[in-house]
Amino acid sequence: MNPNEARVVLTGATGGIGRETAAAFIRAGASVLLVGRSPAQLSTLSRSLQATATGSAARIKWQAADLGETAPVDELVGVATEWRCNVLVHAAGVPCFGALETIDAEAMRRVLDINLLAPMRLTQALLPHLRAQTRAQVICLGSALGRIGLPGFCVYSASKFGLRGFAESLRRELSGSGVRVQYVGPRSTRTSFNDASVEAYNAATGTAMDSPSRVAETLLRSLQDGAAERFIGFPERLAVRINGAVPTLLDGSFDKHRRSVAIASSGGALPVKQPDRPGASSPIESSGVPR
Ligand SMILES: NC(=O)c1ccc[n+]([C@@H]2O[C@H](COP(=O)([O-])OP(=O)(O)OC[C@H]3O[C@@H](n4cnc5c(N)ncnc54)[C@H](OP(=O)(O)O)[C@@H]3O)[C@@H](O)[C@H]2O)c1
Repeated sequence: MNPNEARVVLTGATGGIGRETAAAFIRAGASVLLVGRSPAQLSTLSRSLQATATGSAARIKWQAADLGETAPVDELVGVATEWRCNVLVHAAGVPCFGALETIDAEAMRRVLDINLLAPMRLTQALLPHLRAQTRAQVICLGSALGRIGLPGFCVYSASKFGLRGFAESLRRELSGSGVRVQYVGPRSTRTSFNDASVEAYNAATGTAMDSPSRVAETLLRSLQDGAAERFIGFPERLAVRINGAVPTLLDGSFDKHRRSVAIASSGGALPVKQPDRPGASSPIESSGVPR
């Protein structure tokens, strides 16, 4: 879709990736309805975005909503419908890192609720309105970990695999309608989403981290070209393909990751990975792989 025609509901707008995405979309000419939980943060963000693109004030609106609660989501659906949205970008999410035995049931429930059920509920509620538009897009911000399961990310990965399954299935269900469903899978990205233990894991395993603006540019590209799925970074894109075709082929590639989770879960300090000798390991292992 041409960004000039896009009226985008952006959840997670106050996050590291969300802020960059809002800015990129607005610069490209889109109208954006910013969604987060804090009215104060949304209002500040809205003002700062208006300053970045002249004449953009009328194209920016915000609505506070906790996506885990029913009444605020109902209110958001009403506002988004009246505002005539034709694009929904699911960028809200919560992290979860650690060995499975260290994650309590409430944290597990919250991750699945916000990362998976919330986008499913919001999409379902807005679908009648989106179907009534000439063209509409639903872009799910997943993760490379929605295609590749890594030690330390069982719960998070389950939520993002689920989101990818939802996107793929719904894309096929809506084929022939004017609604396009898409999935974008970034690798690890430099935002406050990743706490010190994840940063230590990334350093110990040599996992590359992207800037949030790279993810924002990718989301903008997906808005423009409607690509069904897009993953960010090499060798992550290769790993995604191999894992999709023969997952067990990669099972031996994550020893370093497994050791790092065990150390991080016991509160120990992780060693920083030394650069690999050329050819010392597989391209997947030597560059760490995703988030
Ligand atoms: N950073 C990474 O390494 C990385 C990599 C791949 C994929 N991703 C995905 O990218 C998305 C954005 O990540 P990020 O790095 O921008 O994270 P972030 O900076 O922590 O931002 C998270 C966003 O989600 C919102 N959110 C969390 N819980 C919410 C709730 N209950 N109701 C409404 N909004 C809620 C937050 O809003 P509040 O202001 O209200 O807290 C915030 O806007 C997530 O889906 C994440 O899984 C991140």
